[in-house]
Amino acid sequence: MSKKVWGGRFEEEMDALVDQFNASLSFDQRLYPHDIRGSMAHCRMLAKKGILKDEEAAKILNGLQEIKREIDRGEFSWDDSQEDIHSLIEAALVDRVGEVGEKLHIGRSRNDQVSLDVRLFLRDCIKNVIQRTEDLQRTLIVLAEKNFDVVLPGYTHLQRAQPVLLAHHLLAYFEMLGRDKGRLQECGRRVNILPLGSAALAGPSFDLDRHMVARELEFDAISANSMDAVSDRDFVLEFLFISSVLMMHLSRLSEELVLWSTQEFGFITLPDAFCTGSSIMPQKKNPDIPELVRGKTGRVYGHLVSVLTMMKGLPLAYNKDMQEDKEALFDTVDTVESCLIVLNRLLTGVCFNREKMKQAVERGYLVATDLADYLVTKGMTFRKAHETVGKMVLYAIDHQKELNALSDAEMKRFSEIIEEDVRGWLEPLNCIQRRRVPGATGSVPDGLCPG
Ligand code: ARG
Repeated sequence: MSKKVWGGRFEEEMDALVDQFNASLSFDQRLYPHDIRGSMAHCRMLAKKGILKDEEAAKILNGLQEIKREIDRGEFSWDDSQEDIHSLIEAALVDRVGEVGEKLHIGRSRNDQVSLDVRLFLRDCIKNVIQRTEDLQRTLIVLAEKNFDVVLPGYTHLQRAQPVLLAHHLLAYFEMLGRDKGRLQECGRRVNILPLGSAALAGPSFDLDRHMVARELEFDAISANSMDAVSDRDFVLEFLFISSVLMMHLSRLSEELVLWSTQEFGFITLPDAFCTGSSIMPQKKNPDIPELVRGKTGRVYGHLVSVLTMMKGLPLAYNKDMQEDKEALFDTVDTVESCLIVLNRLLTGVCFNREKMKQAVERGYLVATDLADYLVTKGMTFRKAHETVGKMVLYAIDHQKELNALSDAEMKRFSEIIEEDVRGWLEPLNCIQRRRVPGATGSVPDGLCPG
C-alpha cells in the first residue's frame, strides 16, 4: 500500500478494501495530461511569486515533463496503489526529483485541482463533439443536395400527411444539430473558468497570481468564490444535459433509419457494411447500428440523472460523492463521440429508394389539404372546403381510388366551383412548390453552411 498524501494524522493503515473502494485512479487516470499541464502552470506561478526558487521550479517542471512523456509513450510504471491521478503524479514526481517535489502542492488542494483537470478535459471534449456534430451536419447537406428532387410523405402521428422534399426532412436534423452545437459553445464558455487558486475551500493563504495561471491555461476568467469553485459541478451537468438532447436527436434519426429500412417502408437501403445478419434466419439484414445509437441514448440520460441525483443533497463545499461525476462524464463523452462518428459514416452510405417514396406519396390522399386550399382560392370558406374534401376522400376510399383519379363529373358532384385547373393542385410536386414561405418544404433554405 502506498503512503497517503494525507497520512500524517492517521495511526492505522487503511483497510485494503476501503482503499480500493475509495480510489478513483482506475478511471481518473485519463486526466493525466490535464493534471500535469495544470501543475506546470501552478509551478511557474509559484516561482514567479517567489514562493518557489527558480531552480526548484525547474526541477519540478522537468520531472513533470518526464512523467508526461513516459505516460504518453506507455513507458510509465503505474503504481496502482495510489488513490487518484493527483496523488499518483505527485508521488511519481517526488520519486524522481526528491523532496522538492513536495513543494508543488503549496496553496493548492486536490479539490481545486480536480475541478481544474475536469474543466481542461471537458474543454477539449466540447471542441471535438462540436466538430463531429458539424461533420454530421455537412453529410446531411450533401445528402439533401444529392437528392434535392426526391419527394416522400411527411407524417404526423406516423400517418401519411403531406408531400415533402427528402431534403426538407433531412435538413430538419441539420437544424436540431445546429442548436446542439450552439448549446455546446455556450457551455464551453462556462467551463472555461479557472477554479485553481481556491485551495480546499477558503482560498490559499499564499498570495497566488490566479490571473497568470488563467492566462497560461487559456481560461477566460477566474472563479469568483472559492467555495463555489470547488463544489460546482454545474458545468458537468450542463454537458450531460446537452449530450442527452443531442443523443435524443441522433436517436430519432436512427429510429427513422430503422423504420425506413423495413420492407414495410422500403424507403432506404442501408449499406451491408453497417448491418448484421441473424444466426438463424438467413434472409435477415438487421439495422443494428441505428438501433445501438437509439439504445445508447438511454445510457446518456442515465448519466445525467445519476449526477443530478448525486449532487442534490450536498452541503458546501467539496464532498467525496463528487468523485462519482467522472465515470458518468467519461462514458458520456465516449458514447456521444462514437455515435456521431458511426452515424455519420452510416448516413454517407445510405441509398434512398426514390421510386418507393414516390409510390408512397401517391397513395393515401396526401394532396387533400391542397384540394381544400384550391376550393378556398375559388371563394369557399376553409371550414366548408375541409368538409367538402373530407366527403370526397370518403367517396374515393369507397371507390378505391386516389383523388386525382376522380373524373371531372365526379368532382363536380361535391362542388360546382371545381374546374379543370384543379388537376395542377393534385400533383404532389406542385404541392411542394406552392409552399414557398420561408421555412416551408418548397423554400430554398439559406445559411446552411455549418461553422
Ligand atoms: N478523486 C477525487 C475526486 O475525483 C479528487 C479530489 C479529492 N479530494 C479530497 N479531498 N479527497 O473528486
